Amino acid sequence: MLFETTAAHEALRKEIRTFAETEVKPIAFSLDQNNEFPDDIVKEMGKRGWMGLPYPKEYGGAGLDVISYAIAVEELSRIDGGVGVILSAHTSLGTYPIAAFGNEAQKKKYLVPLAKGEKLGAFGLTEENAGSDAGGTETTAVDKGDYYLLNGGKIFITNAPKADIYVVFAVTTPDIGTKGISAFIVERGWKGFDFGDHYDKLGIRSSTTAELIFNDVKVPKENLLGKEGQGFKIAMATLDGGRIGIASQALGIAQGAYDNALDYAKERIQFGQPIGVHQGISFKLADMATKLRASRYLIYSAAEMKENHEPYSMEAAMAKMYASDAAVEITNEALQVFGGSGYLKGMDVERAFRDAKITTIYEGTNEIQRVVIAAHLLGRLTK
Ligand code: CAA
Repeated sequence: MLFETTAAHEALRKEIRTFAETEVKPIAFSLDQNNEFPDDIVKEMGKRGWMGLPYPKEYGGAGLDVISYAIAVEELSRIDGGVGVILSAHTSLGTYPIAAFGNEAQKKKYLVPLAKGEKLGAFGLTEENAGSDAGGTETTAVDKGDYYLLNGGKIFITNAPKADIYVVFAVTTPDIGTKGISAFIVERGWKGFDFGDHYDKLGIRSSTTAELIFNDVKVPKENLLGKEGQGFKIAMATLDGGRIGIASQALGIAQGAYDNALDYAKERIQFGQPIGVHQGISFKLADMATKLRASRYLIYSAAEMKENHEPYSMEAAMAKMYASDAAVEITNEALQVFGGSGYLKGMDVERAFRDAKITTIYEGTNEIQRVVIAAHLLGRLTK
């Protein structure tokens, strides 16, 4: 698998980097301090066509490829990992299942405003007793003729409560495991659909994360996504793409921390020389740059495979696992290069250090990524 970014990819990178540096960077510290969602930034990204990058123009998208989407998440995350995940969760978790599994009416009603950035999307899979074991879903959707009655709750939902449209997974046929789970499109504002408090997180604090609470929510029959019982496969296929997004977020956070550390290593004088001259620092930079390059190749090659409609589940898991582990290592070392000043609030590297950690946890912990990779290598040996 070979790939090369095109001039158009690099032009998009430049455009998004400029936006992130001029519009996001000046407010990133205050968003982090105040646990504040950047409404205006998200609206502006919609106007610029970035909230629907990989979706067809006929449905309101930009008609670009998956690598363009990965570059967008990377460049936003280079400045603010929270802003990166807002775009990522919207694009690859909230919008993708409707684009890939929705019927024409659902696409017209939901995909178009999502891809245009007029509405924000989210994905409701995780529950208190169904985290890594997503098949343990307990939320129920009972067929009542014209509608399904939805009851239960979801936790850790990125973009909630800001999102307008939620793809929610619920059990329609109990006691048959993953084949009893179905997917639904649920709108904010429907009676019985409420939210818990916005979580106070270690990092990515400019993104909102909240619980979803369903209390006798009537979901119209036409909002069933795909077929009854297809929900788990829709969730898994969606997460394959989502993992490219999180890998890109990790890469961006790490690249930002590295760029800052590199500049600092050239400027900071100790023992009469820039600290980058000392091998203790230069070796750190060499390791960081190598890991960034490896992450980028893993991500763009998985993105290219998705774009070419090749099976890419294992490659997306590898990219997510590697890039997120690397991001934790790189941000840690970048902070170390800064020494005591890197430990201070208001330093970008301090925020990056906190933002990086979540990438090893969400959209499948890195332990689950290893389960996915090993299952592809070995096949299923049990069950
Ligand atoms: N695409 C399509 N179908 C898939 C699939 C994929 N990638 N992976 C599995 N399936 C199918 C299987 O083929 C199988 O189908 P059959 O029953 O027809 O054979 C079915 O799904 C069940 O598969 P498994 O038996 O492998 O399922 P499992 O219960 O053993 O679970 C798992 C597998 C990989 C552990 C899965 O539960 C998983 O990915 N867990 C992690 C969940 C996760 O990533 N959560 C993230 C939440 S979202 C989030 O974090 C967002 C955010 O905040 C930003």
